[in-house]
Amino acid sequence: MGRKVARTLGRKISKLHLSNFADGDIRVWVEEKVKGKDCVVLQTTRLNPNNRLMELCLVVSALKTAGAKSVLAVIPCLGYSRQFKTYQQGETNTAALVAQFLEVSGVGKVIFVNLHTEKILKFFKIQAINLKTDELFAEEIKKLRLKNFVLVAPDKGSMEYVTGVARKLEIPLVWIKKRRKSKGFGKEDWCEALALSGEVRSQDVVIVDDEISSGGTVVKAVELLKKNGAGKIYVFATHPVFSEKTFEILPKGSLEKIVVTDTISLEKRAFKKIHNLKVISVADLLAKEIKRHF
Ligand code: R5P
Repeated sequence: MGRKVARTLGRKISKLHLSNFADGDIRVWVEEKVKGKDCVVLQTTRLNPNNRLMELCLVVSALKTAGAKSVLAVIPCLGYSRQFKTYQQGETNTAALVAQFLEVSGVGKVIFVNLHTEKILKFFKIQAINLKTDELFAEEIKKLRLKNFVLVAPDKGSMEYVTGVARKLEIPLVWIKKRRKSKGFGKEDWCEALALSGEVRSQDVVIVDDEISSGGTVVKAVELLKKNGAGKIYVFATHPVFSEKTFEILPKGSLEKIVVTDTISLEKRAFKKIHNLKVISVADLLAKEIKRHF
């Protein structure tokens, strides 16, 4: 996606070398001469978040050390964003800590796409921007030409993103009461869909969420929607995290289409496993925002 963004901006991608020592230590070398230049670094820090975050911090620090005037970090999908609060004593606010890592490394501004929650923006002292995929999703949903349908937020938290799409389409919104075991350790992906806030009987449904990670949320939502008489079901999720388990548990037969964005690049395998998968790009959205800063 970095290439797409660079192409849209008419910029080249700089020469950068990354390698690993035998023990996994990361080594970074910025070959490009960046002294006095404004730099943009694009890196998703989800999936293998520890490595990706460390790489990003090292690259930013190397750029600053080499005399870069400013570094704008573009993080289409932020790792650790679900840990933006603590649930019990003895835990840490990991998302807040990640914000500090980025700042200490030398990031001057940061751009995200559909953050898990906008609360994360408050952890930054530097300018932090959260771009929304509302418009993209609303346009894509229009293309489905659905007549009688509702949008579904698979939990109360996802109302943050679904409300924007519902407003653009001027259609009703139903949310699912979902339960997680936030305090239980080792049950991080477990969830249960308990009830619907409104009617879905004989209506087609578009589930909108920020991400599909284990796939558990979609599975439980689909079960509940079917039980309540929903018609065709579509899923729109910004971040296709798709952890290994997802491919096995996604109820492919019950889903008309799964639409995701390229905030995380997918391997070919994902398209083989999920035939009705469509990827729409956020490259233009990012390019437009980056342009605004220079
Ligand atoms: C709420 O927890 C989020 O908005 C997503 O619903 C969740 O992260 C999806 O995760 P999973 O696919 O593992 O259920």
